Amino acid sequence: MAAHESTYEPKSRFGKWMDVRLPIGRLVHDQLVDFPTPRNLNYLWTFGGILSFFLMLQILTGIVLAMHYQPSAADAFNSIVRIDRDVNFGWLLRPLHAVGASMFFLAVYIHMFRGLYYGSYKAPREILWIIGVLIFVAMMAAAFLGYSLPWGQMSSRLSPSSALCLPPSMSWSPGSVRLSCNG
Ligand code: HEM
Repeated sequence: MAAHESTYEPKSRFGKWMDVRLPIGRLVHDQLVDFPTPRNLNYLWTFGGILSFFLMLQILTGIVLAMHYQPSAADAFNSIVRIDRDVNFGWLLRPLHAVGASMFFLAVYIHMFRGLYYGSYKAPREILWIIGVLIFVAMMAAAFLGYSLPWGQMSSRLSPSSALCLPPSMSWSPGSVRLSCNG
């Protein structure tokens, strides 16, 4: 693949001085302002940006939810109910976070499908694809752990030990194996 000729031309004296010593301006320009792309790119390439939006949404709503969440077996569920009923805009924040998580996964599946269908995993992007797989594993872990936080029925059914109906002594995850095996 031929290297792209840089079109960056620093205007100010300081810009020219910097460009010789630490060409950050050139890097930003060549990656974000004048970045050659094939003409057959389509709207499926917008999903990386859509994913970035959902990542920010999950982080911001998650931080505010964490401010009102009680991390204990006795109080977790009640604190969730309090967020829904009493916390200002809690009725909005919690669904934004929960539905946002589902939309995040929908978007990542489309993003990965795009990668598979158009061969984005091929050279020279193999390492990018591997990093993507690691991100996907981290996303699954985060979603799994997040789902367990409300400490409700759905949380207990989610655990690997409850999915396998292991005896309570072998259970490591929140909720009760008894509930999921009987339910
Ligand atoms: C939090 C999750 C992720 C975010 C925020 C994200 C973000 C982005 C962005 C902004 C782009 C450039 C625009 C585009 O091509 O859509 C991109 C490209 C890419 N992503 Fe992701 N991504 C995520 C997850 C993944 C996963 C799970 C994979 C694969 C397993 C992956 C593989 C790729 C590949 C191969 C490209 C290059 C596509 C190409 O140049 O044709 N990404 N990503």
